[in-house]
Amino acid sequence: MTQHVNYDTNEYPKTLLLGVYAPYNPTKNVTSYFEEFVNLAKTNNVQNYQTEFIKIRDIDAAYFLTKGKLQEIKDLCVKDKIEQVIISETLSAQQERNLSDFLDCSIFDRTHLILEIFEKNAHSAEGKMQVGIAMMQFQKSRLAGQGVGMSQQRGVRGMRGGYGETRKEKDRRHIENTILKLTKQLEALQSTRNTQRKHRLTTGVPQICIIGYTNAGKSTILNALTKSNVLAEDKLFATLDTTTRELYIDKKKVGVISDTVGFIQQLPHKLIEAFKSTLSELQYADLLVQVVDISDQNWESQIQVVHEILKELEVEKDMVYVFNKADKAIGIENMTGAMSKYQPYVITSALHKETLKPLADYLGSWSERTKKKPLITT
Ligand code: GTP
Repeated sequence: MTQHVNYDTNEYPKTLLLGVYAPYNPTKNVTSYFEEFVNLAKTNNVQNYQTEFIKIRDIDAAYFLTKGKLQEIKDLCVKDKIEQVIISETLSAQQERNLSDFLDCSIFDRTHLILEIFEKNAHSAEGKMQVGIAMMQFQKSRLAGQGVGMSQQRGVRGMRGGYGETRKEKDRRHIENTILKLTKQLEALQSTRNTQRKHRLTTGVPQICIIGYTNAGKSTILNALTKSNVLAEDKLFATLDTTTRELYIDKKKVGVISDTVGFIQQLPHKLIEAFKSTLSELQYADLLVQVVDISDQNWESQIQVVHEILKELEVEKDMVYVFNKADKAIGIENMTGAMSKYQPYVITSALHKETLKPLADYLGSWSERTKKKPLITT
């Protein structure tokens, strides 16, 4: 299936968004997997694009795409004068380079695309550092595959870098030094965060974390519950940094509540690693509020994605499900059976604050039930 979007502009490179349904992909709804991929590209401000969605039965170790498909895509790129291809999957450095040579285009894979979105959306010092480290590690992996021949540089004996050091080695050392520097800065910041967290733990304040698939409405719910002004945007990954607020219900302090980075299917492994520390907040949570966009046809598999990531992070906590965007969920009245598999749950339309009352009531009574005793400090 090919779809053209012509903006009649030379300002942006002519881009092919190549959605690939690969054999390892567990999604049941491939259409929404592809839609989500196009949304990721749009979130990254990709313009002047056309789409092509294909299914492959095998993965080629060298080119990712097997011979026949590869030739089809090559023909398409030549015919439509494509300058860059963004592919919905994660490629190895070797596959990326081979594809780029064969198609004669720039290639961006899923990791690169998500990293660029993360880079634009990280606002806090911690978020920026985490993305910076992930970006550097990505660049390092791409460097590893580059040939040395072309970038051979003449070194000067006795100088730093040494005789005959290649450009690649220099670049690698620069990247490694930057990663080291950023990691140290991050550790220093995290130790401040740990001190604050320890303080909260010792004072026995309950911790509530809002989690969920990207764009489900987490920030909107946090804003509505705490009357704060956290960025809520109709874009994927608008929130990357953990925001923590005090939560009062009926003028009684219930605890502190945090927003977290949105989850997404096929989140490249490198990025889970990068965000483990942002998500470390979850280890200390007493309650997880999982926000689900019930108007998305794929809501059940999005819950599964969230559960898989939690498993990977070894987080097992009490959870309340918030089926949000009820206002635009067609046929919600027939979905009670499906929703009741996830207990306890409430239904909300966070744009209309009054619909949050069942959630506020739940949090109020949860807080009464689980009044924490302050921990004894050592
Ligand atoms: P990420 O930061 O990407 O993980 O997103 P998020 O889960 O924090 O979602 P956010 O609160 O930014 O909301 C995403 C979009 O959905 C925004 O445009 C919101 O205005 C919209 N939205 C949130 N809740 C509702 C709702 O109940 N109904 C409708 N129709 N739109 C909503």
